[in-house]
Amino acid sequence: MTTVAIIGGSGLTKLKNLQITRREVIRTPYGEPSAPMVFGQLGGREAVFLPRHGPGHTIPPHDVNYRANIWAIKQTGVTKVIAVNAVCGISPDFLTPGTLVIPDQIIDYTYGRAHTFFGSNHKQVTHVDFTYPYCDELRHILVEAAKRAKLHARGKGTYGATQGPRFESAAEILRMERDGADIVGMTGMPEAGLAREFELCYASISLVVNPAAGKSKETISLKEIETNLETGMAKVRSLLEQAIPLIAGA
Ligand code: HPA
Repeated sequence: MTTVAIIGGSGLTKLKNLQITRREVIRTPYGEPSAPMVFGQLGGREAVFLPRHGPGHTIPPHDVNYRANIWAIKQTGVTKVIAVNAVCGISPDFLTPGTLVIPDQIIDYTYGRAHTFFGSNHKQVTHVDFTYPYCDELRHILVEAAKRAKLHARGKGTYGATQGPRFESAAEILRMERDGADIVGMTGMPEAGLAREFELCYASISLVVNPAAGKSKETISLKEIETNLETGMAKVRSLLEQAIPLIAGA
């Protein structure tokens, strides 16, 4: 049985090392997910893959149908979800592109996104605990998998989720730094919150692809981001290959 789903972000619209067995289009009450679900084997175990931005990387962060994606993932019967996110680094420890982070906290700066399954048409008012937004068990597995893949991954960090698609101003980054954010990306929320509403064990592999705005002498270069995505996602793929057998059992 497939127990783990991987949500690919920028730079990971295809999981090259996934040996594909089938694809499934899943319809949801919330509309279309970003793509058909891709089932296959990774590291000798079953996994299912969903590219968050669509197969051709055409869906921007603020237009991703996060509810349809999480609904479709839940529908497959998996209990664990690994999200892959491209981020920038704010704090000095996270400034170097290529750094892998398994965040343990999140701050939501997004707005106007459909962010809950428990809206006004829900039977009754429902709240969920979000004190620890990421699944600790899965976070520890990802840190261990990084070790086995001979990669260094920082096992903690606060992810600031911004609306995008523009990058931040230097002042916005300073504010986020004061708030305690270490890394910033555009796709961490509402995904993590929706996963919690559906009781999925959810964690993120965040790949730093640029220093945050105002944190280096240069302005943000898309070309540099693309290069860092390419080299960094190769690391993410080998981390995933180690992680899946640890999750899916030997
Ligand atoms: N800001 C927000 N999200 C990002 C960035 C950034 O600089 N780089 C990659 N994702």
